Amino acid sequence: MDGVTSATLCSRNAHKAKELEQLLPGWSIEPLERSDWPDEVGDTYYENALAKARFGREVGDPRRWMVGEDSGLEVEALGGGPGLHSARYAPEGRPAIARLLRELRGVPLRRARYVSELVTLSPSGEEARGTGTLEGRIAEEPRGSEGFGYDPVFVPAGESRTVAELGDAWKLRNSHRARAARALLAALGAALVLVAAGCGGNAKAAHRVLVAFFARSAQGRRLAPLFPNEPGSVSCVLHTGGTSPGTTLQATCSTDVSLVKPDRAVVTLTEAWNHGAQAHTWFFFIRRNGEVDSVVEEGVAAPQAQR
Ligand code: IMP
Repeated sequence: MDGVTSATLCSRNAHKAKELEQLLPGWSIEPLERSDWPDEVGDTYYENALAKARFGREVGDPRRWMVGEDSGLEVEALGGGPGLHSARYAPEGRPAIARLLRELRGVPLRRARYVSELVTLSPSGEEARGTGTLEGRIAEEPRGSEGFGYDPVFVPAGESRTVAELGDAWKLRNSHRARAARALLAALGAALVLVAAGCGGNAKAAHRVLVAFFARSAQGRRLAPLFPNEPGSVSCVLHTGGTSPGTTLQATCSTDVSLVKPDRAVVTLTEAWNHGAQAHTWFFFIRRNGEVDSVVEEGVAAPQAQR
């Protein structure tokens, strides 16, 4: 990607535009100023983020990239809530924090996490996505003045200070949105290498690369039973012994292959789990004969992975 990528952030939240402009270097991001946003009715953060980006394409400048973002706070003791409904739980800031602390009063289980899903649509409509999470716990009372939303009561795992105390510079390196942005850039990086090389690829060539890949590398052979042998998605059971003993973890596993002329390809394997809210992706940079040059791994591994 040479030069500046002009993008529109399809979100009501001005804090996010500020954070994202710094998280996506080389991107010039303008917020989409609208009052007629569609309702967030998706079952996953991904669906909501995609809906926002699609709305941006309908009403915005078609020459710009559209960035949709959806995020939320999931609190274990509240059954994963407010989750997808974080923005509607109570007005952002003090009212939302007051409600959260009231609902957790006297509750010792304080585990929580932030989730962020980013989806981009290029001017020609190609989609890319990145997911990020930040594990932590809810503090007993608000502390700190930076960040926004629930940051004054969110203490990341391994820290004693809240995100609002750790500050905006910390957030830029470590937040769920920072992680989602890195995953997105990795996904776009793979795609853009291909575009830059003027690549294409057809189903036959993709199939040949995949067969070679799954047969020749040890990692490929281990992953082969989980993923489709041609580009596409399948529902699958990733692990036995899921989040609790005796259960299994349902997921969707997808395979994508993009060919770079003359002899390189990128195979992307993604396991999406937790109803699509989380994803674990491998990017294999491979030769046409199936030899793996390098592997980049992004996202969060499914819990208690027992392959
Ligand atoms: P939405 O993604 O605009 O639907 O809303 C996400 C909501 O989750 C925000 O209104 C905040 O309440 C919360 N949230 C998301 N990201 C953050 C963050 O980085 N800090 C604090 N709260 C956040």
